[in-house]
Amino acid sequence: MNLRIHWIVLFGVLLLGNTSFGQEEQDDEEATVETVADDILYDSPKPADQSKVYFHDHFDDTANFNKKWVKSSAKKEGIEEDIAKYDGEWAIEEPVKDGLLGDKGLVLKSKAKHAAISSNLHKPFVFNTKPLIVQYEVVLQEGQECGGAYLKLLSQSAEHKDLSQFTDKTPYSIMFGPDKCGNDYKLHFIFKHKNPLNGTIEEKHCQKPKERLEEIYDDKLPHLYTLILNPDNTFEIRIDNKIFNSGSLLEDFAPPVNPPAEIEDPADKKPEDWDEREKIPDPEAVKPEDWDEDAPAQIVDESATMPDGWLENELTHVPDPEAKKPEDWDSDMDGEWEPPLIENPVCAGAPGCGTWEPPLINNPAFKGKWRAPYIDNPNYKGKWRPRTIPNPDYFEDKHPFKLPTVGAIGFELWSMSKDILFDNIIITDEYYVAEQWAADTFSKKRQKIAKDSVTFWGRMMRAMNNRPKTWGAYFIYCSLPVIGYIYYLFRCVKEVRRLYCQPCIARQSPKNNVETTSVYFAFFFLY
Ligand SMILES: *[C@@H]1O[C@H](CO)[C@@H](O)[C@H](O)[C@H]1NC(C)=O
Repeated sequence: MNLRIHWIVLFGVLLLGNTSFGQEEQDDEEATVETVADDILYDSPKPADQSKVYFHDHFDDTANFNKKWVKSSAKKEGIEEDIAKYDGEWAIEEPVKDGLLGDKGLVLKSKAKHAAISSNLHKPFVFNTKPLIVQYEVVLQEGQECGGAYLKLLSQSAEHKDLSQFTDKTPYSIMFGPDKCGNDYKLHFIFKHKNPLNGTIEEKHCQKPKERLEEIYDDKLPHLYTLILNPDNTFEIRIDNKIFNSGSLLEDFAPPVNPPAEIEDPADKKPEDWDEREKIPDPEAVKPEDWDEDAPAQIVDESATMPDGWLENELTHVPDPEAKKPEDWDSDMDGEWEPPLIENPVCAGAPGCGTWEPPLINNPAFKGKWRAPYIDNPNYKGKWRPRTIPNPDYFEDKHPFKLPTVGAIGFELWSMSKDILFDNIIITDEYYVAEQWAADTFSKKRQKIAKDSVTFWGRMMRAMNNRPKTWGAYFIYCSLPVIGYIYYLFRCVKEVRRLYCQPCIARQSPKNNVETTSVYFAFFFLY
């Protein structure tokens, strides 16, 4: 096998690589340490306008985190003692991969444990004339089998101000964020609504949008969740800055905020004589004189005759003349021995044996049971429905936006996958503040990831943008493996032909095979 061509191609690539791309390669090797400082510089973010911020945390400052956040040491009510404790572990850590230098997050370390942590807002958020914008990042570093990554905006209350006692019973105004179990993918937006008539508090769940959610749970990348809630009751949910769901608190929640004005009267009953039958058998129809209900469905075919050659005196089955009584047959125990029956061989050549009977045919006079035809019911009153009455529980709340004031923020979670990273929480009343905050944090992370995951193609595209003069060189660079491979196949085909279609692979000596493979491996590795 002629290996020369492989080496020529290989040297060609090496040469090109060294001249045009050597610089590029070096840059990338240093990327992990230097390039961060080079082009994706991270500084702990500062809100664009502190006066519009109710809460923010970038989790880069562990000392500050320890001052602000309180881990719950409460017990969950109504479950077994040994699993009731909120003993899930939280830590301030850098992400497992693709992290920016100096960027840390809040990580839920443990799995299959109740975990709760919370912090007071810098100032309470009062639902009045300003919108509420809540934004944070989640990285499901280990994916998610079953569990939530949502946050709760805790309602301000004297009774619940001890954050170390934060549990699932702690009242919240809003719950927002991802949640998944098995194939059930959710992005919660729940608010608690107080019935103005009797004070009962009910959860209102945002209706599911049609968009698929699968990817954000599976790709293990940082995702940005934004909730914008306006004083006119409209809301918008964004994932990674793209609108994912929107609507109104008054129209897009279940159960609805406002009950129906009228309901069906539960006391109303269907009157005895209410006729709901749309059609009835015609009471005036009579059975025709000649309608014989007793005529059978089938009758003997009188016109049939016994086929010629039918052997009326022969039995259909006869004792097997070749059967022998078994040696161990005990007549006392087993009874008198009889040979088994076989089909009568005499019948094999005849249309049939034994008594001939004419076949049955359908009876043309058969009519069956007579029934009166159906007609429209003259007494039909339609389907009965109870009358409607004014709903005694009716109320109209035109401002469900006016939720209980939020005093704190918290995560109260249970997860089957560990290492969920939360980062860059912000609560503000100006969208641009959240937008700027994301540009300084989330966007940089995604840029870093894009940079780290640069593939052969990505690197090429980037270099082409930076250095248009190298287009031609890149074209050759890309074409080389293709040309090389086509040449290889071409040689292969030629050899096959020469050897009368014996596969060339089989003909190669093992040594040659290994060499060829290594050359190609080295070749692609260089790319
Ligand atoms: C309050 O009213 C709602 C709606 O009518 C009802 O479902 C709920 O049971 C009532 N609660 C109390 C405590 O009466």
